[in-house]
Amino acid sequence: MHSPAGTAVYFAMHHCHSRRTIRYSKGTVVRNVPIAENTWRITIDSEEPLPEVRAGQFAMLRLPNRTDPLLARPFAVYLAEAHRFEAVYLTVGKMTRLLAAVRTNDPLEFWLPLGNGFSDEPVQHTILVAGGIGQTPFLMYCRNARKRGERITLLYGVRTAARTACMDDFRGLGITPVIAADDGSAGYHGLVTDLIEPQYHAGELTKILACGPLPMLRSVFFTAKKLGLPCSVSLETPMSCGLGICFGCVVPYRENDDTLDYRRTCTEGPVFDAYKLQW
Ligand SMILES: Cc1cc2nc3c(=O)[nH]c(=O)nc-3n(C[C@H](O)[C@H](O)[C@H](O)COP(=O)(O)OP(=O)(O)OC[C@H]3O[C@@H](n4cnc5c(N)ncnc54)[C@H](O)[C@@H]3O)c2cc1C
Ligand code: FES
Repeated sequence: MHSPAGTAVYFAMHHCHSRRTIRYSKGTVVRNVPIAENTWRITIDSEEPLPEVRAGQFAMLRLPNRTDPLLARPFAVYLAEAHRFEAVYLTVGKMTRLLAAVRTNDPLEFWLPLGNGFSDEPVQHTILVAGGIGQTPFLMYCRNARKRGERITLLYGVRTAARTACMDDFRGLGITPVIAADDGSAGYHGLVTDLIEPQYHAGELTKILACGPLPMLRSVFFTAKKLGLPCSVSLETPMSCGLGICFGCVVPYRENDDTLDYRRTCTEGPVFDAYKLQW
């Protein structure tokens, strides 16, 4: 995927009868700052305006002019407006540690929008459950849901208070996050999933959306099932191509006739109906 500096290449993908245009951009880093323990926020400007992005879609980010790591990595779109793209990331390995060393004015390659994103079918109340770095796809969702007049509850589980990131952005939308910390250093001392049930008011049209580590997603699903609520989860499955080509990101998926097949997280996800996955 090569393009002259400062230009963008569009390519189209045909999938599930829908045509989507993915934009490849060479961007320039505006800011890359630590915002919590091992957590950074990066702001990148593209020369050309970004295509429309749905809440819950993601981007592939790649460090240019190097072959190690060769592959791009997936990151939720935290914000995408006009020319500007933002992501919030945890430093866990090779690419994210190198990303934290990127400076203002450095070049960065990214392509978006990828994946399906969250459904914007209106409900009265959305309960968002985020764990670890799982809050990142929810800011755009909250902005849109606010415009639709939905009530939003954000439950956010962290290992420790020092890992708490982005909550002021949610507060800026009038949302008061309910925080749970594994070590009791902030908010509720315990698992974030303990907090779901008390938030549900019978009779209010409610759905649950979750993003975070698999054990948390599993527990969210079983709570949703117990309460009889719709539940979608956004998976953070490691990816290679991000475009539906390598099948490196497949997850078992329950078909309507109850047989198991596979779905690619990068194109048919990352958001899945939790009732369709195998827990
Ligand atoms: C759709 C999607 C959205 C994502 N959004 C974000 C985001 O907004 N912010 C963010 O910080 N991260 C996000 N991730 C996860 C992010 O892609 C990985 O953290 C990143 O690829 C790690 O790259 P690395 O080179 O630093 O780590 P590597 O060197 O590749 O791996 C380091 C260690 O982390 C493990 N690892 C790598 N990727 C994952 C993963 N996805 N899940 C669990 N363990 C993993 C590896 O097994 C290894 O042990 C998202 C993933 C997906 C699929
Ligand atoms: S990452 Fe290649 S098919 Fe999904």
